[in-house]
Amino acid sequence: MPDPRPAARVTAITHALTPLRSYLELWDGLRLQPEVCDFVFGNPQEMPLPGFVDAIRRHAEPKDKDWFAYKRSESEAREVVAKSLREWRGLPFDPEDVALTPGAFGALEVAFRTLLDAGDEVLFSLPPWFLYEPMLLSVDAVPVKVRVRADDNDLDLDAIGSAIGPRTRAVIVNTPNNPTGRIYPPATLRALAELLTDASDRWGRPIWLISDEPYARLVFSDAQFHSPSAYYPYTLISYSYGKVLLTPGERIGWLALSPSIPDRESLRGAIEVSQIAAGWLFPNAVLQYALGDLERLSIDLPGLQAKRDRLAGDLSAVGYDLRVPDGTFYLWVRSPDPDDVAFCRRLADRGVLVLPGSICEAPGFFRISLTGSNDMIDRALPTFRRAAPEH
Ligand SMILES: Cc1ncc(COP(=O)(O)O)c(C=O)c1O
Repeated sequence: MPDPRPAARVTAITHALTPLRSYLELWDGLRLQPEVCDFVFGNPQEMPLPGFVDAIRRHAEPKDKDWFAYKRSESEAREVVAKSLREWRGLPFDPEDVALTPGAFGALEVAFRTLLDAGDEVLFSLPPWFLYEPMLLSVDAVPVKVRVRADDNDLDLDAIGSAIGPRTRAVIVNTPNNPTGRIYPPATLRALAELLTDASDRWGRPIWLISDEPYARLVFSDAQFHSPSAYYPYTLISYSYGKVLLTPGERIGWLALSPSIPDRESLRGAIEVSQIAAGWLFPNAVLQYALGDLERLSIDLPGLQAKRDRLAGDLSAVGYDLRVPDGTFYLWVRSPDPDDVAFCRRLADRGVLVLPGSICEAPGFFRISLTGSNDMIDRALPTFRRAAPEH
């Protein structure tokens, strides 16, 4: 018998995931050792919010025979999100514009499956969230990448304009940005909207803007969030509660259609069809019932900001080159060794785990997750200092 083989597309996906998977091996081997300071992913390093646990407990108790029946997007949960979006964004979101999904991951997958045909190009900026590329490859789309501006991590509109062509179907914008922490300013979003409108007219079909906003509520007090949906009509927003509640293992988020998209009824139906066909991509029942409670909760933002200021201040003082993030829970830092993987392995040998920039297609950088506890920061700072450019 010939060897069993996965589909050809899996080879390309495996290739795109190789840097992440080889680092995961190192991480898995070290992260549970005592005294390790783990700043690699947006994972909780402390116990969950009590309000989160109460909400899950409260809604786990069945109230009728359908409590754990198949769930699509529950109408109460849709209303919670639409109301919140109306107040937050000032746009007339209808509950029907909201699809409940297993996190932003699920929202992106549904958006890709709803909007993209095989061979369609989708543009995003580097350094990116490291899973856009494998997810696009899994729907046979073609990732097209441009770098953000080196001086301020803002979108490079000239590069985006040059990369758009007749096959461009969508542009992904992630703000607040993982990994750079940048929130794109109104002037950038306005210019991007003009560029996309011109290109859509030129090629005779709308170019979709997928606005990936899982960190939209993790904004520091010296910054302000601006959604691309306020500037460009053909926008879909993806969101996740896994960030603001720091519970990424409890999968709930949403995909919302901008109310500015004309004639969007058929798109609403197409989204639900895609969710069903993709393998019932809806969140579990209990999380949907709990959403009204979850919407009111947040991790300690002033505490997060204090961690940002302490780490950014201390690292800058010893010569690390970084831009203080506007939002998210990440610090994006230039590696003192151009070989960021070697640098991160040396930190790992001393019990400090961070993410090499190479995994986000940005060799020469590394990312620190501020979800690490204050105790971890205390213990890791001497190691960061010893590895510093000025040491
Ligand atoms: C930019 C970005 N988009 C989407 C996701 C997926 O979020 P979730 O796992 O909460 O669905 C992440 C997670 O890290 C992310 O950073």
